[in-house]
Amino acid sequence: LPLATTRRLLNELLSSDSGRRALQYGSTAGDAELRRLTAERLRTEDGVDEPHVSADDIVITNGSQQMLYMLTECLCDPWDIILVEDPTYFVYLGIAQSHGLRCRGIRMQPDGIDLLHLETVLEQINKAGELRRLKFIYLVTYFQNPTGITTSAEKKERTLKLLRHYERKAGHPIYLLEDAAYRHLKFPTAPRVKSALATTRFIDRVIYTSTYSKAFATGVRVGFGILPKEVMRAVLRVKGNHDFGTANLLQHLVAAALKSGDYDANLTTLQQRYTCKARVMTAACRAHFPDGISWLEPTGGLYVWASGPRHINTGLRSKFFKAALAENILYVAGSLCYADDPSRRAPSNEMRLSFGAAIESNISEGIRRLGNVFRNALSRTRRST
Ligand SMILES: Cc1ncc(COP(=O)(O)O)c(C=O)c1O
Repeated sequence: LPLATTRRLLNELLSSDSGRRALQYGSTAGDAELRRLTAERLRTEDGVDEPHVSADDIVITNGSQQMLYMLTECLCDPWDIILVEDPTYFVYLGIAQSHGLRCRGIRMQPDGIDLLHLETVLEQINKAGELRRLKFIYLVTYFQNPTGITTSAEKKERTLKLLRHYERKAGHPIYLLEDAAYRHLKFPTAPRVKSALATTRFIDRVIYTSTYSKAFATGVRVGFGILPKEVMRAVLRVKGNHDFGTANLLQHLVAAALKSGDYDANLTTLQQRYTCKARVMTAACRAHFPDGISWLEPTGGLYVWASGPRHINTGLRSKFFKAALAENILYVAGSLCYADDPSRRAPSNEMRLSFGAAIESNISEGIRRLGNVFRNALSRTRRST
């Protein structure tokens, strides 16, 4: 965590002319300089010659989590339908549930959602006469939480085309909500992938959210959304009701870190740390997991997604989960990451392992113990068959 950097930047900020401004209320949309810098960074990240978004398209939020909540509140009514990845960011499922939404899961492939399955689900919704209830598809496109999968630019473009096709019958826009929370946490060998904003001519159907907190300090709750105009109006109204603007001091801090190069310096350190921790975790998986356990090798982000044989239940109430807890191992049960979609049976043999906070030696030891939990579970099931 950038303790010394933050201390220095806050000192500089509070000793300068901007100090007073930073301690006042700001605007609901957020600090103009931070929004300008955000638009500029996105242009570099997407490698586009002309600016494809401007500061006016951006709202700074209290973490990207607030943006996800506000978008759902603005776009959806109870019993509306949204499409999500199967599996997806489980905390978002909580937001969807609290708004009374119906979620349909779209199967995942190594480069993002399965477009054939997306088309099948869209057609089912169409045949059921429910397209008017469909509001958006939510995709965590970079080093997804929980699987670590990155969606290819081509899939984003084709998803938007498909949505456009069904939009005519829906009678309203169907958005692609691109959650790019982990975009910056890329390992050096991972290819660069453009955002949906840079891959489509349907840019007014893309809602993009991301965050500065993951790659700087999660306690600095500064995220942002890039929104089409009609959505912007509604979100600003809700944001005004929530807090009339994200903490101004923290926005100034992030803007200062971006301008001074401290944000990128910290990011480089984090990328190296996480690359190394991911390597430690996957090496430990290779060394300690018994045959029959598989996992995805991450190319960024914070997670390894592991799967056991179908008959080993890793759910919160399972013997397996309790045995892992008894060994001081905590994972996110894979079943939590599947929407409550009655059209399919969600798997219960998966888990999300995080290498974010633990130190290397604990990662190796944790995976060794988890390997034993797997071994015991496998021998138990062998005995009972
Ligand atoms: C996929 C995803 N989106 C959004 C968030 C929210 O992050 P923040 O509010 O810190 O920007 C998280 C946090 O874990 C996440 O995993």
